[in-house]
Amino acid sequence: MAGPDLKVRIGGVEFRNPVMQAAGILGTTAGVMRRVYEAGAGAVFTKSVGLEERFGYPNPTVVEVECGLLNAMGLPSPGISELREEVSKLRGWGIPVVVSVFGSRPEEYAKVSSMAEEAGAVAVELNFSCPHVGEVSLIGQRGDLVEEFTRAVKDAVDIPVFVKLTPNVSDIASIALRAERGGADAVTAINTVRAMAIDIWTMRPILGNRLGGLSGPAIKPIAVRCVYEIYEAVDIPVIGCGGVKSWMDAVELMLAGASAVQVGTAIMYRGLGIFEEILEGLSTYLGRMGFRSVSEIVGLA
Ligand code: SIN
Repeated sequence: MAGPDLKVRIGGVEFRNPVMQAAGILGTTAGVMRRVYEAGAGAVFTKSVGLEERFGYPNPTVVEVECGLLNAMGLPSPGISELREEVSKLRGWGIPVVVSVFGSRPEEYAKVSSMAEEAGAVAVELNFSCPHVGEVSLIGQRGDLVEEFTRAVKDAVDIPVFVKLTPNVSDIASIALRAERGGADAVTAINTVRAMAIDIWTMRPILGNRLGGLSGPAIKPIAVRCVYEIYEAVDIPVIGCGGVKSWMDAVELMLAGASAVQVGTAIMYRGLGIFEEILEGLSTYLGRMGFRSVSEIVGLA
């Protein structure tokens, strides 16, 4: 007997399953992203890319803390001209690749997104949510800017536009609404939580940038709350992200309202086998609970 249907449609694009790789994990080369897809991911998301090459912050850029990872890389990026080739290769292999985009002006987001579309991206995900790169974090905190920037990209491309939101705001649902009003086809929630760690012996912040973003298990309840609030407020799909390390976490985010989930930090700890593990657990759960399709559980909580 066939198992439950795991296919999902987001912004008109059909993905083979709802368990995707989060942006910023494992770099930007086509070879690595191909391995992620072959390991079972429903789609791959690139590290955020801008118009020009950007070097990012000095080391250390990542530090392990007791409840997850703290990172502040500073959006290092080869620039979209370089990344285009990798995106084209992935598309040539039939792998659905979503290009994560950052910038500081609406025209920049629009230009990078349109170059990503030309290269073969199935969608773009607008990063308005990096918690420590000034201009990017500012966009995500202001509904008017989220709407304006989203609209600029929508006017420039035909592929779906996802908007990745920051939890570092007092009312994430109202920001999601502005993304929807700007024409977003889906929102991704959440990016990392603004945080920091201090070395008690040097008596200094550990990260080169001092402040960073926390990911991993500690932020999952925050992600669940944000997805739940957004799901109630908007009519577009929500992609859940934040602390997913098991099929149970994926189910929890879907019950909160996520149509798909992204796995990030857990790949660092558990390797690529985590995709199959989550997919198997999800299928078994759906079968046991009597569901024929994964979309039936979205928002049930
Ligand atoms: C970084 O490159 O520092 C992280 C990007 C992000 O959190 O969006």
